[in-house]
Amino acid sequence: MNYSKITPEHLQFFKSILGENCFTDSENIAKYSHDETEDLSFHPEIILKPNHTEQVADILRYCNEHSIPVTPSGARTGLSGGALPIHGGVALSMEKFNSIVNIDEHNLQVTTEPGVITEVLQNAVKAVGLFYPPDPASKGSCFIGGNIAENSGGPKAVKYGVTNEYVLNLEVVLANGEVIWTGANVLKNATGYNLTQLIVGSEGTLGIVTKIVLKLIPHPTHNVLMLVPFFDAAEACESVAALFKAGITPSGLEFMERDALLWTQDFIGEKTVPVEENHQAHLLIELDGFDEEDLMKDAEKVLAVLEDYDTDEILFAESQAQKDQLWSLRRKVGEAVKTQSIYKEEDTVVPRYELPNLLRKVKEIGNQYGFKSVCYGHAGDGNLHINIIKGDLSDEFWNHELTQAIRELFTEVKQMGGTISGEHGIGLVQKGYMDIVFPATTLQLMKDIKKVFDPKGILNPGKIFPD
Ligand code: LAC
Ligand code: ZN
Repeated sequence: MNYSKITPEHLQFFKSILGENCFTDSENIAKYSHDETEDLSFHPEIILKPNHTEQVADILRYCNEHSIPVTPSGARTGLSGGALPIHGGVALSMEKFNSIVNIDEHNLQVTTEPGVITEVLQNAVKAVGLFYPPDPASKGSCFIGGNIAENSGGPKAVKYGVTNEYVLNLEVVLANGEVIWTGANVLKNATGYNLTQLIVGSEGTLGIVTKIVLKLIPHPTHNVLMLVPFFDAAEACESVAALFKAGITPSGLEFMERDALLWTQDFIGEKTVPVEENHQAHLLIELDGFDEEDLMKDAEKVLAVLEDYDTDEILFAESQAQKDQLWSLRRKVGEAVKTQSIYKEEDTVVPRYELPNLLRKVKEIGNQYGFKSVCYGHAGDGNLHINIIKGDLSDEFWNHELTQAIRELFTEVKQMGGTISGEHGIGLVQKGYMDIVFPATTLQLMKDIKKVFDPKGILNPGKIFPD
C-alpha cells in the first residue's frame, strides 16, 4: 500500500475542521508513538483529537480520499501494539469522547462515548446499583473504546464474561466517512449478520467506534476473597479445573507464580502477604453474590476441593481495605515486571484443564532456549500471561531465537486446543504468529472482510495480519 505523507495542505484541512485540536509538536508526537507494548515506539506525523462523530467522519473521508493511514488511539494501555502508528500518518485520539451519554436504569443499559475510562464508567453505574463487570488490570486508566477494540477481559471474566458479552450496539464511522449503527439496543438480536460482534475485537481495523451501548447487570452485594499459597505451581493450576467441576463459579480465579508476587511486592515497596521459601504459586479466589450464607457455603466447597492439594495456610481478606490491597497487588504484576526488565508479554489461553500442561511447557521451552519467564493471569479462564524476561539476553537472541521459541510454545498451545491471545489482541506483536492458529483460508476470509470495510487499507494498517 502506498500511503501519503502529511503535507501542509493536509494540515490546513485538519485545522479547518478541528481548529486547535491538531498536534505536530515533538512532545505530542513522542507521547502518541507508544502504548504499553514492550519498548516499542513509532511516530505518528500528526495527532488529531476530534470531539464529535461528524469530525471523525470528516477526518476519515479525507484520509480515505488521500490514502493517509489512521491509527486509532485510546489511553494507549494496550499490550499488543494496536495503537502504534507504524505507518506514521494520523494518530486519531478518542480522548475527547469522554462523556457517559445515558444510564438507562429501566433497561439496565448504558450509552457511552469510547474515551471514558473503564473504571469511571463502572463507578458511575455502580452509583445506581448496576454493574459493568469487564475489568482489565488497567481499568483505572484504559478507555472503554480500547476495551471494545481489543475485546478485553480481566479477572471478572471468569464468571461474567469479557467485553463482547456486554456490547449491544455501536455507532461506527466507516473508512469512507459514513456512519452506521451496528445493531439495536436489545438483549437478543437475530437480524442479519452480527456486525456489533464483528467490530468488537477488530482492533480499529474496520471502523472507528464513536458511541457504545452496553448491557448492565445488578451489582452483587457481597464477596469473599482468599489467597491460597501452593507448594507446587502445577498443582495450583490443577486445582482450577477441579474447582469448576465441583460446581463453583468464582468471580475471580487468578494465578500468580512466586516471582510475580515477589517482584510486585518489591515494586510496591510493601510486603502485603507472606511468601515463604517453599511457596511456588498463589491462587487469588473471589466469590461474589447477593446472599452471605450462600457465599459461605461456596467458600466451604472451595476449601473442600483444596483439601486434595498441598496448600499452606489460606489468607481470608478481612476488610475491604485488605481486599483492595490484594487486588491491587494482582493488578500491578504487569507493571512491576516491566520495571525489572524489557519483556514480551504473551497472552496464551487454553481449555482450563490444560493449564498445568501449559505451565510445564512454558518452563520446558524456557529451559531449552535459556529464557526466564514470570507467569500469572486468569487461571479460571485458562488464560495465562507469560512474561518473558529480557534481562541480559542479547538483542540477537531476543529478535531471532526467541521468535522460534515463541512459535514452539504457540504451536503447543494450539495443540492443547488453545489460542495465542485471550484478551490483549494480536495488534503488531503477535501478527507474525497468526499462521499457527489459522489456516490460509481463514486468514484470507478475514482479510477479505477487512477489504469490504476499508478497501484502501487506511485503518490501523499493519495490524493483525502477517506481513
Ligand atoms: C493483567 C493484564 C496484563 O491481567 O492483562 O494483569
Ligand atoms: Zn490479564
